[in-house]
Order: sequence, then structure tokens, then C-alpha cells
Amino acid sequence: MTKPDISVNIAGVKLNNPVIAASGSFGYGREYAKLFELKELGGISLKGMTLEGRNGNPPPRVAETPSGMLNCVGLQNPGIDYFLENELPFLKKQETVLISNIAGNTISDYCGLAERLSETDIDMIELNISCPNVKKGGAAFGTDCESAAGVTREVRRHCKKPLIVKLSPAAADITAIAQAVEAEGADAVSLINTLLGMRIDIKSRRPVLSNNAGGLSGAAIFPVALRMVWQTARRVKIPVIGMGGVTKWQDAIEMLLAGACAVQVGTATFGDPYAMIKIRDGIENYLIENNYESLCDIVGKVIPNPNGIL
Ligand SMILES: Cc1cc2nc3c(=O)[nH]c(=O)nc-3n(C[C@H](O)[C@H](O)[C@H](O)COP(=O)(O)O)c2cc1C
Repeated sequence: MTKPDISVNIAGVKLNNPVIAASGSFGYGREYAKLFELKELGGISLKGMTLEGRNGNPPPRVAETPSGMLNCVGLQNPGIDYFLENELPFLKKQETVLISNIAGNTISDYCGLAERLSETDIDMIELNISCPNVKKGGAAFGTDCESAAGVTREVRRHCKKPLIVKLSPAAADITAIAQAVEAEGADAVSLINTLLGMRIDIKSRRPVLSNNAGGLSGAAIFPVALRMVWQTARRVKIPVIGMGGVTKWQDAIEMLLAGACAVQVGTATFGDPYAMIKIRDGIENYLIENNYESLCDIVGKVIPNPNGIL
């Protein structure tokens, strides 16, 4: 029996498999490279990058929640100059698809990053217009169609790499945002970023996180993410990358059936550093057991109920 084809092509970039490390949960891969070869992954969405380095928010900036976590890391990163000099050379040796996740306070920040990254060996750019845990930093762009379209239009002019726009679940209608960025030249959309949440320490009466609120991720958000991916995939022609609580291979299959051509995995990696490898193998086995030849046989193949609410 020949092995099924689990490769996927997104905007002309070939990924060996559909499992991508989600931004912020994998840093620049150095720690994980000690555990497995990074080329085992379809790709890596690198930690969110800004023009200047950022220290992020003060601690405490993570908290556990039932089936998930809250974070208010606040886009801590060393800035583009440091990245290009010290991290990209290591990453280039890893033979996996590299996605630069970029963030900024202004459209001009995003354009500056896209322009500089266009001259590097990065394979794709992911525009983070959805980070909920910094005061400025893009979330506002992601909840309003006009702003999302505006930032995508400008970045598109400066970006020579395939452009993924990462969408926010805080938008009133995420599918409208997806269509707006598609119309401005986005090559793909990825969704969802975290949902804004909060915990309070009942002894001190203080919020658990230094930022008061933070982004909720992990298995708890999976059904919401899946619903949004399904709705979005039916409304756009560009590829959809699904994420949000994908923890097991079965979740990834659900995302693919809902219409995602690939998945990103974040929080699950904190609990099990090999989660992505297991998910990749599980996808392959599912295809074998069901006699499917490739991912195309399952992507978007959910059979909705005709009288459903959506
Ligand atoms: C600690 C942490 C840091 C994150 N940092 C970023 C980031 O820099 N840029 C970004 O676009 N998303 C960031 N995210 C969001 C994830 O990429 C992902 O969209 C979200 O966590 C949902 O996926 P998951 O449930 O598999 O973690 C971060 C998430 C976590 C938990």
C-alpha cells in the first residue's frame, strides 16, 4: 500500500505535512530541536515579531484554566535586527517552512517588517492583526473590516512573500474580515487567535494576570475555533489555516473536514512537546485506514445537516 500524500501547498509554498507550530508556543524552535528534527513539522510560525525588541508584560503573565490557559505575554521578542542576525541562520538549517508572524502598533510598522522580511529567506509572512493582550498591537485592526482591509492593502504593497492574515475571534463576524482581507490580496487566512479572558484570585481580590486580562487558548476554545474555521472556509477561496485548541490528531481531522488545509498547534505543545508529531502521524494513519489518497479527500468534506442553524 502506498503512503497517502499529506503534503499541502499554500500560496505556492509546499509543506511536507499540514501541522504547523503556532506562533508564540514554539519560540524560534531551539528548545524543541533538542527533542526532534524540526523538519518533521510542516512549518513553524515564529514568535510574533516587532520592529524594535519588546520585554512584554510583567509577570504573572500565564495562568492555567480548565482545559486551557490564559496568557498576557505581550509580544515579548528581541526585534527584527536580532532575529535576522541570531535566529534566522539557525532556522534556515532546519529544512522546514518558516513563517514570520509580524505585529505592530501602526500600519507603517507592519509595512516596515514586511519589506525587510521580503528580502530574507523567510518563506511566508503571517500578519498578526489579532493579538488581544497588548494595549496597542493590532487587535483593533482585526475586529473591523475597513481596518483589516486597510492594513492588508498596505502590507501587500510592501510584501513580496506569500501573505497569511491571522484573524481575531473578537470580530463580530470573522467571515466578513476574512473576505475583506482576501479582497486586498491576502494569500491565506489563519484563525483563530486567542479569546480574551480573565481570572481573579479570590484571596487577594486581584486579577491573576498582571495585565488583568489575557488570551485564552488550548482545548477549551476548540469548538469555537472549529465553528469559525468552518464558516470562514465556506466564504473565501484562499486557503484557511485552522487553529485554536487542536490537541489530538482527531481535532486536526475535524479542522480539515471543516475546511482548513492545514492546522497550527500551540498550547498542546506545552503539555506534550511531541503533540505535533503525534498529530501528524495520526492524520496519516486516518487517511490510510479510510483508504484516502491525500488530504484533498478530506479537506472541507464535512457533511452539514441541511436544517442546521448555520
Ligand atoms: C504563550 C502564547 C503566546 C502567543 N504568542 C502569539 C504571537 O506572538 N503571535 C500570534 O499571532 N499568536 C500568538 N499566540 C496565539 C497562538 O498562536 C494561537 O493562535 C492560539 O494560542 C490558539 O491556538 P492553541 O489553542 O493551539 O494555542 C500565542 C499563544 C500563547 C499561548
